[in-house]
Amino acid sequence: MNVALGVGGGIAAYKAAELARALMRHGFTVSTVMTKSACEFVTPLTFAALTGRKVITDLFGNRSADEILSSSVEHIEVAQQNEILLVAPATADLLAKFAHGLADDFLSTLYLAFRGQVILAPAMNTNMWEHPATAANVATLKARGHRFIGPDAGDLACGTVGAGRLVEPELIADAVAACAGRKMDLDGETFVITAGPTQEPIDPVRYITNRSSGKMGYAIAEAAVARGARVILVSGPVQIAAPLGVEVVRVRTAAEMRDAVMANLEAATIVVKSAAVADYHIANVPDKKIKKTAARVTLDLDPTVDILAEVGAKKGDRLLIGFAAETNDMVAEARRKMQVKKADMIVGNFVNAAGTGFGSDLNEVTLVMSTGETVPVERATKKDIAHKILDHALRLRLALHSAR
Ligand code: PMT
Repeated sequence: MNVALGVGGGIAAYKAAELARALMRHGFTVSTVMTKSACEFVTPLTFAALTGRKVITDLFGNRSADEILSSSVEHIEVAQQNEILLVAPATADLLAKFAHGLADDFLSTLYLAFRGQVILAPAMNTNMWEHPATAANVATLKARGHRFIGPDAGDLACGTVGAGRLVEPELIADAVAACAGRKMDLDGETFVITAGPTQEPIDPVRYITNRSSGKMGYAIAEAAVARGARVILVSGPVQIAAPLGVEVVRVRTAAEMRDAVMANLEAATIVVKSAAVADYHIANVPDKKIKKTAARVTLDLDPTVDILAEVGAKKGDRLLIGFAAETNDMVAEARRKMQVKKADMIVGNFVNAAGTGFGSDLNEVTLVMSTGETVPVERATKKDIAHKILDHALRLRLALHSAR
């Protein structure tokens, strides 16, 4: 697949060289387009040497008028030859030009001529990133369906600390690879996804939890964002990094997870509840550590709030997908949960099978749908299963809407 790599004139431009290499390691052909100011930070020769391809630096180059008139209109050619336009670093100036349709150099002209997938990796000083003008330009570009990767927060080249740092090149390349060739069939959708375990305190030191790693939910979040969706990920405590481009809300207890889900429900078009939510908790947690004695300790547990059931009761036009973690009678249990909790689909999986379920990179699921359909999905990576869940979710929603 061909990627046009637009390089803006920010100090992070030097990282674009590493990004070009990372993209090529993913098998992409990289055509580099640099703004004039980018050439002040890193030379076109660097990219030409890395990519083995001519680097375009401005609209007219140093060609004679005849050459310009005789050559085909190059930015149209580049626009037609590449499936993805990735701009990194995307400076405040470039975001403004793209948002307002200015075309005073090759890259901004290419942007207007480009009809493929646009991915923007911003990098700038925190104040510039947080300025209302930049925020308005970002909102305009997101509304056009362009995908943003970052920026990260951290130490900036200008010596300050805050949001505005270019995401690491390797991670940008991974994110581009994740959505390359993907149909952007979730463009315009907003997901609220829960993932990971909850932790229910016993006392200030101890808590009850389970073995969920969050991998299944995070895989669904990554797949959805790669297909153009906005994703709000409500996550219990996990050890894995959130996928790029996902809005993460971190919670600990079932009660906190419930509050975060309900706070974001209004925006959601699809809700996926893959979190392993504790079914019981201690209603009145002591404020002192339970001291160890020879005597037995009995925990007095109360049921936690059933978030899936609560969302099901106010589902409206949203698509609601739950999970069922079972050790036996999985399909029957999944069907029961689907009916009782008013879900449109339940993803059933055994959690006592070797090599799948909690913590594994693999899973094997059965999709039980409110249309009566039951679809077994054979053992695969959670990433692949995530895409299959999304494929069937879209198909299910079409079936439900046409049945009305
Ligand atoms: O995180 P991983 O390590 O990748 O493991 C993935 C997984 C095994 C956790 C995942 O595939 C899975 O099965 N998640 C659901 C776990 C669970 O709590 O299942 P359940 O059958 O106990 O709950 C049924 C449904 O109700 C789930 O959608 C759950 O999110 C929801 N629930 C449960 C309890 C509660 N108080 N509120 C809820 O919303």
